[in-house]
Amino acid sequence: MTMDFSNPVNTQTWTNGRHTVRCVKVIQETADVRTFCFMSEQPVMFFFKPGQFVTLELEIDGESIMRSYTISSSPSIPYSFSITVKRLPAGKVSNWLHDQLGIGDVLAVHGPVGNFNVIDHPAEKLLMLSGGVGITPLMSMTRWFFDTNAAVDLHFVHSTRTPHDIIYHRELAHMFSRLPDFTLHIVCENDDKKGEPWAGFRGFLTAPMLELMAPDFIDREIFCCGPEPYMNAVRNLLRDRGFDMAHYHEEHFDATPAAVREDVIELAEQAEVAAGEVDEAELRQVEFTSTQKSVRIQPTETVHAAAAKIGLHIPKACGMGICGTCRVGLKSGEVEMDHNGGITEEDIADGYILSCCSRPKTDVVVDF
Ligand SMILES: Cc1cc2nc3c(=O)[nH]c(=O)nc-3n(C[C@H](O)[C@H](O)[C@H](O)COP(=O)(O)OP(=O)(O)OC[C@H]3O[C@@H](n4cnc5c(N)ncnc54)[C@H](O)[C@@H]3O)c2cc1C
Ligand code: FES
Repeated sequence: MTMDFSNPVNTQTWTNGRHTVRCVKVIQETADVRTFCFMSEQPVMFFFKPGQFVTLELEIDGESIMRSYTISSSPSIPYSFSITVKRLPAGKVSNWLHDQLGIGDVLAVHGPVGNFNVIDHPAEKLLMLSGGVGITPLMSMTRWFFDTNAAVDLHFVHSTRTPHDIIYHRELAHMFSRLPDFTLHIVCENDDKKGEPWAGFRGFLTAPMLELMAPDFIDREIFCCGPEPYMNAVRNLLRDRGFDMAHYHEEHFDATPAAVREDVIELAEQAEVAAGEVDEAELRQVEFTSTQKSVRIQPTETVHAAAAKIGLHIPKACGMGICGTCRVGLKSGEVEMDHNGGITEEDIADGYILSCCSRPKTDVVVDF
């Protein structure tokens, strides 16, 4: 593939939507983590807010499947972007990416989206807390601060299993060795199985450890990402120390946390029970412009569910308003949108909604 970057001034910039990209590089970071770098066929400047994510649209064994991945690169190097994926035992997409995705392969991505970013939550003193592959959004933010010479005071605390599992270890060591206001702390649960000892912080992150690493953590803006038990422990630790949680931001990698799944099931059950009792006047009409088909649904049901009832398949990945995959235009009417950062204020102002988490307040006409 040849790319013409001779005129960067006229190069298009990336906007939230569906894009076709080509894998141009694969980097083995650790035994079970790989970075995949992508470029567009047409030159595109991949600008986004460090911390945001994309959703991959894949076809695996004839089945269309979507998964969200944080952009691990920084928009300061905008001609390509990367994702860093951990292989999960029996995980459908992560294993497929590791085993099948190679240089030259083309795929579709949706995004970039996400509220977990350092542009929407600016601060001069930061504390980044990551566990395992949860390092990806924080790495994007750190690369951005480093490359743009940002005047920030940054403590970065990364927890992992063994020294061999430290993702981006050399790059982290390089960046953090060059700036006096950047401080890196790594916590390893164990020595490496092959015998490499770990002389640094050991075990799980604790409050006394954090107080040693960043004594002024209470005054910092905190960004946290990691496995659920890790983030639960961090939240408890911070609350116990009286941290003002308005300055705490976190990203969940679990596509649909169990608690949410239970809520959804509960909601669906409530809706079913209520179905027999519902007053006809309460029903909302949802019309889809592409087919001019329409359906009447209860106010508790989503626009996405309405589409499914009449055989329209709006692409969907997370089902909880974080990935932006199910975005559609709202031509008329009003919805209650209970999203989790998968749509920008600009998109909302332009009349877009996330169909998976939008419930009609009036009759609506949807552009799909
Ligand atoms: C906003 C966001 C950003 C993300 N960023 C990243 C990132 O930067 N890097 C990254 O690696 N991941 C990231 N993720 C997670 C990613 O989207 C996927 O969820 C992850 O790769 C697992 O997908 P999978 O298809 O491999 O696993 P799945 O097939 O979805 O399985 C998930 C887990 O469930 C287990 N499982 C599956 N089926 C069963 C079953 N029947 N019974 C019991 N257990 C089962 C699997 O073993 C696996 O451990 C992000 C997620 C979100 C929402
Ligand atoms: S499917 Fe992810 S936002 Fe709707």
